[in-house]
Amino acid sequence: MNRIEGRVKVTGLATYAAEYPVEGVTYAYPVQSQVAKGRIARVDDREALAMPGVLAVLSSERPPELAPEAEGELALFQSREVAYRGQIVAAVVADTYENARAAAAVVRVEYQPQAHDVHLSTEHPGLYRPKTVNPGFPTDTGHGDVEAGLAAAATTIDVTYTTPVLHNNPMEPHASLAYWDDLGRLMVYDASQGATSGRDIIARTFGLPRDAVRVVARHVGGGFGSKGTTRPQAVLAAMAAREVGRPVKIALTRHQMYDVTGYRTPTIQRLRLGADADGRLTALEHVAYEQSSTVEEFAEQTAVPGRVMYGTPALRTAHRLVRLDVATPSWMRAPGECPGMYALESAMDELAYAAGLDPVELRVLNDPETEPGSGRPFSSRNLVGCLREGARRFDWERRDPQPGVRRDGEWLIGTGVAASTYPARRMPSKAVVAAQDGEFLVQIAAADIGTGARTVLTKIAAETLGVAPDQVHVEIGDSDLPDAFLAGGSMGTASWGSAVFRACEDFQRDGKEGHADTAEEIAKDAELARHAFGAQFAEVRVNAVTGEVRVSRLLGVFAAGHIMDATLARSQFIGGMTMGLGMALMEETYTDEEFGGFLRRDLAQYHIPANADVPNLEAVWLEEEDEELNPMGSKGIGEIGIVGTAAAIGNAVFHAAGHRVRDLPITPAKIL
Ligand code: MOS
Repeated sequence: MNRIEGRVKVTGLATYAAEYPVEGVTYAYPVQSQVAKGRIARVDDREALAMPGVLAVLSSERPPELAPEAEGELALFQSREVAYRGQIVAAVVADTYENARAAAAVVRVEYQPQAHDVHLSTEHPGLYRPKTVNPGFPTDTGHGDVEAGLAAAATTIDVTYTTPVLHNNPMEPHASLAYWDDLGRLMVYDASQGATSGRDIIARTFGLPRDAVRVVARHVGGGFGSKGTTRPQAVLAAMAAREVGRPVKIALTRHQMYDVTGYRTPTIQRLRLGADADGRLTALEHVAYEQSSTVEEFAEQTAVPGRVMYGTPALRTAHRLVRLDVATPSWMRAPGECPGMYALESAMDELAYAAGLDPVELRVLNDPETEPGSGRPFSSRNLVGCLREGARRFDWERRDPQPGVRRDGEWLIGTGVAASTYPARRMPSKAVVAAQDGEFLVQIAAADIGTGARTVLTKIAAETLGVAPDQVHVEIGDSDLPDAFLAGGSMGTASWGSAVFRACEDFQRDGKEGHADTAEEIAKDAELARHAFGAQFAEVRVNAVTGEVRVSRLLGVFAAGHIMDATLARSQFIGGMTMGLGMALMEETYTDEEFGGFLRRDLAQYHIPANADVPNLEAVWLEEEDEELNPMGSKGIGEIGIVGTAAAIGNAVFHAAGHRVRDLPITPAKIL
């Protein structure tokens, strides 16, 4: 079955947030802070207001009213404090985009600057232990005696890895189009991963009842987490529309996105591992240092995968955070698991070399019976199967473990492996099914951010109703549809699919209509550890003269429950792996230590992989039967593909070059 909206997307007929034809539309353009920290003394908007077509200038001079519940980055213009360079401090509304942009350039903001601090380090005096880490995990956990475990070990390693600031780069920029209708209802077309949650956030921010707001996001050009929570441009559009009494559109530029739509926190991660003479872990300690802003706390759960992966008598995981004069970090594909598994899986490779063990065998040997951090049984776990299948396909048996010895002219060749994991959860959602002219209409406020959600929900409905997919019409992307969880945490298919499945069952009892709300069912789910697992294998060629790294082969083997659609699943896996390749070799946003803010703010400087960077990329999976997940038996697949890729590539670089790079990205300068 082809992707349902494939044709409208490739022919340009799919309508995205900024493209809805709305009569009398006006344009807003933000003014961003030039200082990294300080206080706004005055906003002089006289010259801007006199420019052609200008309708209004918004700023903290006359703060537009928001509810006291307006929070963090969404509380636009409510304070005169500047928390980071690039923060939105004013905005111009005009009849055209060009007029708004021209006038924004002459809004004079006078600052009383203060000294700023944008530097993350393990010595920072401001480091503290947050109460919880996202999305509510305990900050520090452990059992057993790590020091004793390390002291008793035959082999130990103590290594520190760093990952840089990383930015999501969805093809569709963050954009919003808002207006207030004659009855005072706020309509927002928004580039959003969740219509229901977006509506709730906007309603809370403006102090409106939920049904006084409607959020529509029928097509979304990627998000990766950056559209998971409502972004300031949506609030700005709504606020500006109220001010000028006309619809207001904002499409952020790529530069502006880098400043105000979140990023992955940089991390510093220390791993201490010990193993006995056979290679069994005696201790595992993972401590992550990361940043948040002074605007709000965002604590990435980087050390959490250490609670899932390997059996050990002594385990300690911990997170420390420092609030710097920076924009607030946010969600980026596999937050926590992605940077955390980079460090843990690189450290496992280092331990394998130190202990003289094969890195596949070391992982198999330490595969636990129950979830190490909680003691809970797994609903299913097939990491070992993934490792074995990947090893078979990669001809791992014939691998010479010695690093730095395989050459093809200037090129050093090596292979590496790493494990992947990602939670397999689901969240309450509602769905409605109705018969309509011999067809079936399924409604749910789900979001398709490029994953193929619309298509897979159609398949689920058709299979459950026992009809052909072309008889089913699935309507999503609108908060006036039944409430649904957002497209995040790889929970879309499991959450929405459960609701659609139950609504279709209900329809079959009734024959005319079916309704479902999965809240009660999910509350009764057994206490189990539910995760998908995978194994990533990489082959790299490292140029001994230039230090260039080419990935000649990348293979991911995943065990992620029942795979609902092979084409869509493969796209998710290889998309995640490609993003992991970017993380390994090229992606990095520089922080400007001198002036604050970011120095790389577009795709000319922030490099992401192109087709030529990924010549041989394969994703396969092992079917799993797991009755403890949801009616489909599926595990999420949106994020696991990025997890472990960077470690597999880094481990292959070590095997090729005999030189361990512990700071991402692995650029030529770090190889030579
Ligand atoms: Mo994804 S980072 O859970 O939107």
